[in-house]
Amino acid sequence: MRDHSQDQAKWWQQGVIYQIYPRSFVDSNGDGVGDLPGITGQLDYLRWLGVDAIWLSPIYPSPMADFGYDVANYTDIDPLFGNLDDFDELLVRAHGYGLRVILDFVPNHTSDQHPWFTQSRSSRANPRRDWYIWRDAKPDGSPPNNWLSDFGGSAWTWDERTGQYYLHSFLPEQPDLNWRNPHVRAAMLDVLRFWLGRGVDGFRVDVIGFLLKDDQFRDEPPNPNYVAGKDSPGDALLRLYSRHQPGVHEIIRSFRRVLDEYEGRVSIGEISSRLSLSAQTAFYGDGDELHLPFNFGLIHLPWQAAAISRFVDVYEVALPTRAWPNYVLGNHDQPRLASRVGIAQARVGAMLLLTLRGTPFVYYGDEIGMHDVEILPDQVKDPFEKRIPGKGRDPQRTPMQWSAEPHAGFSIAEPWLPVAPDYPTVNVAAQRDNSTSMLHLYQRLMQYRKMTPALNVGSYRSLMSTADDCFVYLRQFGGQRRLIVLNFSAAEQTLTLSGLGEGRIVISTYLDREETTNLTSLYLRSYEGCIIELV
Ligand code: GLC
Repeated sequence: MRDHSQDQAKWWQQGVIYQIYPRSFVDSNGDGVGDLPGITGQLDYLRWLGVDAIWLSPIYPSPMADFGYDVANYTDIDPLFGNLDDFDELLVRAHGYGLRVILDFVPNHTSDQHPWFTQSRSSRANPRRDWYIWRDAKPDGSPPNNWLSDFGGSAWTWDERTGQYYLHSFLPEQPDLNWRNPHVRAAMLDVLRFWLGRGVDGFRVDVIGFLLKDDQFRDEPPNPNYVAGKDSPGDALLRLYSRHQPGVHEIIRSFRRVLDEYEGRVSIGEISSRLSLSAQTAFYGDGDELHLPFNFGLIHLPWQAAAISRFVDVYEVALPTRAWPNYVLGNHDQPRLASRVGIAQARVGAMLLLTLRGTPFVYYGDEIGMHDVEILPDQVKDPFEKRIPGKGRDPQRTPMQWSAEPHAGFSIAEPWLPVAPDYPTVNVAAQRDNSTSMLHLYQRLMQYRKMTPALNVGSYRSLMSTADDCFVYLRQFGGQRRLIVLNFSAAEQTLTLSGLGEGRIVISTYLDREETTNLTSLYLRSYEGCIIELV
């Protein structure tokens, strides 16, 4: 069934976006680090799985102080990953399969090795001096204000040669650009055009709310809710002045105007889930800012039906008219879904993510239930872990588990991070052969979502449930109705859903059940979710 409103839906609304952490996807040249030809070689897999777009974490030349989030050249590819020809090949092949390609755009900061910064720090008189944020020391020599880096310590580093401090919201190797400078803005918009002209389908914009800083550089007050040892050190202050300044919306509109010079491109932005919902949805602007400001809400909630259903309902209501929702259950900065909620619950998570109204983001490896991998002290790579033990993100960035071959089929060499010890059984090849595996669940859900307008564009309404541990909702498009029933508890449940008559279970998270059932007495097993066709 198609009608006008489905035809109007954009690919990034109907589709599923799959995040690839390129270092860890496939290593084609045996150096232990994933690369672009490796990704190209797995496009068949991604098409089989049913994703519609891939988002690549940064692939630009970088000293890798923060594994690519420290960019030394915005318009080239790091040799570790390949070159521009490899990228073009990936793009053409992906497009040939109907897969879109989204790049990470890191506008808040560059690498300290970026020529812009080496020029900026060369002398106070350099024309690029003002491309970064330089301030004098206080009379006692201390930093200009109390701002903190997200990775610990002051956000200011002293530059001996030119006798000033420069600002970095993250590592000292990641100096913040000065977005008040019009030349910076123009240069960065040209970066977007460079990639859009090559055919890139959109961008995921890194820490978009950080771009502007208070022009008076006022000290930030202490955060009264800060728990030392638990929270990140950067959270010790209320970030009133170092981020989320109102002018950032004008910058985002300028990104959007560039995107709109091209057909059908998408803008996704990393924003903090700690902002109020209204501050988060403000990033949609008046339909002239981001298409998809990331919604990380589900990652931080207790994994309970009541908390999750309440959150979804509140988010649905908070969305501005015509703003399109999105949901994320994992990424390269967060512990893996399977580790947070358990492997049985992760199947419920998959059904939730792929049946809510809004664009789902799937993190590579979640489709086979990869979990956080223990990283021994001498294996640590993430600078965050090196600076603040316990905060590291290496556990969720380990190599994709393709097969039972050595190194999980990821590489012929020792990978840059260890492979999960369970890879001989938890891998793509084994799960493709097992019709009830997590992988088949993801594949079924994605294929079913694709062919079912009620799921990919339909409306959402939560239903009262007789069991507190279950989340029940209806997705509807025209006369097509699908009921989603998710049991978040270890206990079996029998639900009474009156007034709905009979339904047909088309997918159970166990992948072993397709049957007609009377909804006045719907039986669910422990951690079972079902998609039910209503007639
Ligand atoms: C974003 C990225 C994170 C990176 C940080 C600094 O939060 O997701 O991985 O470390 O920005 O660029």
